[in-house]
Amino acid sequence: MKKEVKNFEELRAVAEGFLKILMQKPPKDTATVVGLSGDLGAGKTAFTKCIASILGITEIVTSPTFILEKIYIIPRGSIVDERFTKLIHIDAYRLNEGKEMQALDWDALLLDEHNLILLEWPEHVESALPKDTIKLSFEYASEGVRRVTGDF
Ligand SMILES: Nc1ncnc2c1ncn2[C@@H]1O[C@H](COP(=O)(O)OP(=O)(O)O)[C@@H](O)[C@H]1O
Ligand SMILES: [Mg+2]
Repeated sequence: MKKEVKNFEELRAVAEGFLKILMQKPPKDTATVVGLSGDLGAGKTAFTKCIASILGITEIVTSPTFILEKIYIIPRGSIVDERFTKLIHIDAYRLNEGKEMQALDWDALLLDEHNLILLEWPEHVESALPKDTIKLSFEYASEGVRRVTGDF
């Protein structure tokens, strides 16, 4: 599905819709990985901030471009309660191949079904991604308008 967003409020509504649809899918026994594709500045980190805010994470979400990964505990009582306990934000911009994900203990992260993993620049580490990775892409549509395409 495609949605055009003009501001953070509209992006937040898209993030809400995305989480609702995600929660309607049958639970899995491995982590849920969401690949966020799109150019620098297209809104991948902004989308992650929206998801964190909807889940009640009060810690400030910053871009993990230099630190690669940030793990946030999802407070109890959110709309993903009982299903996800950690929001993991990864930025693979500086990585060149899938095996570099092992530095993050990637295989162990994938084994835990309570992990909701949002991954920027999935194309950089394609070979490390599970087959059921959910894809979202972000692009500029026109002045001040961004387009989000994917499963939501
Ligand atoms: N939907 C949006 N509406 C308004 N500003 C946005 C939106 N998405 C992103 N921005 C702004 O654009 C800049 C880059 O966004 P960011 O999410 O960091 O991009 P990316 O992670 O894709 O490189 C940030 O300053 C952010 O605040
Ligand atoms: Mg980013």
